[in-house]
Amino acid sequence: MNIILDVDTGVDDAFALLFAARSPLVNLMGITCVDGNTNLDNVVANTLTVLDAAGAGDIPVARGAARPLLELPSYAEFVHGSDGMVEMQSRDSKRTLDPRTAIELMRDLINASSEPVTLVPIGPLTNIALFLRAFPDAASKLERIVLMGGSASVGNATATAEFNIWHDPEAAAIVFTSGVPITMYGLDVFTDLQMTQDDAQSLIAKGDKTSLFAGTLVDRFIKQMGHDVTLGDYGAIATAIAPQLARTQSLRVVVDTTHGPNRGQTVCDHRSYADIAPESAHTRAPKVDVVLEIDIKAMKEMWLKTITGN
Ligand code: BDR
Ligand code: CA
Repeated sequence: MNIILDVDTGVDDAFALLFAARSPLVNLMGITCVDGNTNLDNVVANTLTVLDAAGAGDIPVARGAARPLLELPSYAEFVHGSDGMVEMQSRDSKRTLDPRTAIELMRDLINASSEPVTLVPIGPLTNIALFLRAFPDAASKLERIVLMGGSASVGNATATAEFNIWHDPEAAAIVFTSGVPITMYGLDVFTDLQMTQDDAQSLIAKGDKTSLFAGTLVDRFIKQMGHDVTLGDYGAIATAIAPQLARTQSLRVVVDTTHGPNRGQTVCDHRSYADIAPESAHTRAPKVDVVLEIDIKAMKEMWLKTITGN
């Protein structure tokens, strides 16, 4: 599957990148960077570090937005460490950045592709919103957006809002109303793909560069968090390439862009009669395929096999 990955690398973005760079089921056309878990410079350095660890080929990587559309950024370094990747960032990569901006790279890759392209954003949606607005013709060729973000239940950044949406709610609102088919892999399943210290140690014991890097990342993340950790963002890529592993429900979703306590919430309409309900923001909102359940065993196995190569 042709995929463009938009990242704010981030430990679980690193899990996703390692997989995407190595999976034979993914044609990773390009990677675009956005600020989110940490500042854009860290995101770029982390992304190149992970591509080196994955032994990835020459995949174009472009810089994108360094801040949300309206607000100043608020990072999640208390989760991901001061460099955004539990101190595993290297600044020694020989890779060079693509000279284009993130949205120019998206445009060119989509326009040049004779096959459908799926966009997989696993950070705040700033780059995606800018792309949709700047290049609507290229955007209209997208097959689908499969994003990590939002929640049909609880939040994490706030009681009701998930971090990627909360970081840039205006961008999220642009994406959710764009008319591009959307699958939302949100907090309802985000923590299901748990990694343990046993998983970390068996990866480390494999000894090859990629497994060692992945195992060390899991080990450090567990120590940082004080409990088992999730493969998180990786699940969005797994859902894109293996949708049979995810149960979705088609729901109308409205992003709360108000400045009250629910700012950044993805308000999902679960009413069975939503289609005939009185007119409201929800009756006007496009439907989104919201992931409510995943095949945990199969998704985790797919990641482990791809990372270790067996
Ligand atoms: C999301 O926020 C980030 O911390 C993670 O990388 C993930 O994309 C989860 O809310
Ligand atoms: Ca992320």
